[in-house]
Amino acid sequence: MLIAVPRERNPRERRVSLVPDTVARLIKMNHRVLVEEGAGVLSGYSDQQYRDAGGEVVKSDPEWMKTVDLAITVQNTDFSSSSPYAFLREGAYVIGMLGPLSSPAEMFEVLLKKKLTLFSMDVMPRISRAQSMDVLSSMSTIAGYRAAIMGADRLPKLFPLLMTAAGTITPARVLILGAGVAGLQAIATTHRLGALVQAFDTRPIVREQVESLGASFLTLEIQSQQTADGYAQALAEDIHQQELNLLAKPVSEADVVITTALIPGKPAPLLITKEMVASMRSGSVIIDLAAETGGNCELSQPGEHVVTDNGVSIDAPLNIASQMAPHASQLYSRNVFNFLNHLFSMGLGEEGKELDTHDEIVARTMIIHDGEVLHEILTQRMEQVRS
Ligand code: NAI
Repeated sequence: MLIAVPRERNPRERRVSLVPDTVARLIKMNHRVLVEEGAGVLSGYSDQQYRDAGGEVVKSDPEWMKTVDLAITVQNTDFSSSSPYAFLREGAYVIGMLGPLSSPAEMFEVLLKKKLTLFSMDVMPRISRAQSMDVLSSMSTIAGYRAAIMGADRLPKLFPLLMTAAGTITPARVLILGAGVAGLQAIATTHRLGALVQAFDTRPIVREQVESLGASFLTLEIQSQQTADGYAQALAEDIHQQELNLLAKPVSEADVVITTALIPGKPAPLLITKEMVASMRSGSVIIDLAAETGGNCELSQPGEHVVTDNGVSIDAPLNIASQMAPHASQLYSRNVFNFLNHLFSMGLGEEGKELDTHDEIVARTMIIHDGEVLHEILTQRMEQVRS
């Protein structure tokens, strides 16, 4: 196939969809890879590295997209008429984190006209055979690590217990809310830095994982709030209030709170009210990883760093994985390669072959095929916009 790696145009995006190592693997499999000049620069990969890997570096004239069979992007992609994607031929494929649950529904209208087939990596099923393609896990791992480092950096205190001739320094107290992939990585990282770590999640099933990483788990006596897919569900109002009551004291005592709680397709749950922030000590830190969907802290301002009147520092970073672009790109690229291998094994790009839409991975990720929307929630969102 003729595969394209366009340069990401979103100003917040530093990642690249394929790194040179993956390009080399695709070339070995007899594909051709066109890389838009400068595509990898912000992730630390030069045009020369792509050439050395066997890729063909092309000028930023969008016409180059006219002949490609498959374009691979990262996320928040510009699909407008001035973007390279507007030049894709009818029937071409696009792979990326396309956000059928969250990207503006209008964006997909443009893509329908072209009869493209779109695969969205961010709705990959959470099943064992898709683990190597799971971009949400890859990016959350990076986000959790980065949040831990940001918290340690913002806090004007040491993390570990230190016994010195000048006296003893007590360890920092870290509270992690939401113990999915990002939360568990934040626990592991802050624990390694020597902090005393507590965590909470509405899925009691994660208690064992939290404890195995050296943190203690706050207990709220509730039934498992988990869907068949393993995701959290929004809490009923009374249970949510119980959660806020449970968290009030640990939040007021924490030096650093890292929040990671998400509900797929819904606004992030509120876990830290402004009253709770007011109860925190001056110099304490909140890192809110749920900023993309509104934030877990009432005072978070997505994409900003604020310091409250009582001296609490609140960061609500957007696209945090992109801050560690070399490794984020490496993991993303490998996830895409594993996914492509799965599609190739089913005949992607072969004359007259149709992908098996009964395969769970194809069924869940193929959100648009030949200009027809296949993703249920995206269909509903697009209908709402049209009406
Ligand atoms: P996520 O990013 O959707 O949410 C983060 C965490 O926030 C979750 O643990 C969730 O329970 C928690 N949360 C939601 N509302 C909350 C609230 N009100 N208070 C406190 N915590 C709250 O989750 P992520 O990291 O994507 O993981 C989702 C599930 O998928 C997990 O069960 C995970 O183990 C599973 N998983 C499975 C994989 C596989 O089998 N391939 C790969 C990765 C994750």
